[in-house]
Amino acid sequence: MQIEGNTVGDKVVEGKTKIVYRLADNPDKVLLHSKDRITAGDGERAHDLKGKAEISTTTASAIFEMLNNAGIKSHFIKRSGQTCMVCNYCDMVPLEFVTRRIATGSFLKRNPGVKEGYRFCPPKQEIFFKDDANHDPQWSYEQCVEAKLEFGGRLIGRDEIDIMCKSTVTVFEVLEKAWASLDCSLIDMKIEFGVNPKTGEILLADIIDSDSWRLWPAGDRRLMKDKQVYRELREVTSEALDTVKRNFEWVADRVGQLSPKPSGRAVVFMGSPTDMAHCEKIRAACKLYGVPCELRVSSAHKGTDETKNILAQSNGLGPVLSGNAAWPVINCPPISADWVTSPDGAALAAAQILCLNDHMIWAKLRTKQLNTWVGLKEADIKARKTNFMIEKSEVFQNGH
Ligand SMILES: Nc1ncnc2c1ncn2[C@@H]1O[C@H](COP(=O)(O)OP(=O)(O)OP(=O)(O)O)[C@@H](O)[C@H]1O
Ligand SMILES: [Mg+2]
Repeated sequence: MQIEGNTVGDKVVEGKTKIVYRLADNPDKVLLHSKDRITAGDGERAHDLKGKAEISTTTASAIFEMLNNAGIKSHFIKRSGQTCMVCNYCDMVPLEFVTRRIATGSFLKRNPGVKEGYRFCPPKQEIFFKDDANHDPQWSYEQCVEAKLEFGGRLIGRDEIDIMCKSTVTVFEVLEKAWASLDCSLIDMKIEFGVNPKTGEILLADIIDSDSWRLWPAGDRRLMKDKQVYRELREVTSEALDTVKRNFEWVADRVGQLSPKPSGRAVVFMGSPTDMAHCEKIRAACKLYGVPCELRVSSAHKGTDETKNILAQSNGLGPVLSGNAAWPVINCPPISADWVTSPDGAALAAAQILCLNDHMIWAKLRTKQLNTWVGLKEADIKARKTNFMIEKSEVFQNGH
């Protein structure tokens, strides 16, 4: 079967708002085909809404592109057509990971005494077991562990829950910062994960769109642009549905602006072209953090005027430059000593400075920390398995 130019094979699953198919030529990949359908209250309220599939696909694709670009490990590969996304197939973990910055909605009902507007710092995390028939009950961390769920050949234990929880907070903070750059407050958010059965990797999956969060422009609840507007409708008239759609469009029109081009840059000054290899290392490290980097050759000792001319357009070169500039100067001389900054250290410092005004650089720094943490955890899981195997074989060799 063909869907918007994509040849699909077996249907994996059909939900309320999308259908998942295996790609005919690569069954490890799936096509997520969105429907013109809006639902709320575990499907109790449901309406057709023309154009919703495309709006949702625009929103989800832009969000996943941004998260992939930041380094978040997700199932998303690309948008492919107006209402379709190509993703890696995942065995979906039936848990919803919720993060909240501001208390509102169901949290207030479950936690009487907490007033709307209470600010969680760090963000509050909650987990819900996906079970429409039982209205998605909240599960504690311990309940998630004790359920001993198994997906994609991976037992969902403490490590796996920890990885999903920590990833959720990172995703929330990255999106919160991005929306803040457009003066919108991300109030809360729901995401899901799956296990790639080929690699065993835990991936951010499903979609993130106007159904996944509460979004309040200027932090004002009355201006909300998310699905809550639909949930709160007393009567679902066609005018009311039109308002909901216009809100979703408002969001879809803006998601593209969440990944602006970098506004700052690093300029690496070298006194002589013989330092080029050293400076190229700085450039390579800058690239990892999304910091645009320019290399210039100019000797402060032999051509101070020229150096100061270049300085007039940019920034750099040790104490001489620092004395003439208001911009931050990071000294990274090409000598090897323990007490000087390494090329990576210099790039990191540049990224930490620029991220104050550039949420994409901030997202890359934050995600790098997450990925380092996940990498260590995965290595520890592997080491523990090896210990276990060695212990078992020793017991065997001892003839027990
Ligand atoms: N990469 C993926 N591989 C396989 N299935 C996926 C992937 N991403 C999302 N899904 C699944 O697609 C299904 C359809 O999505 P949809 O949101 O329409 O379901 P739903 O009716 O909301 O049900 P649910 O309550 O499970 O979300 C969901 O069950 C979701 O887990
Ligand atoms: Mg769903």
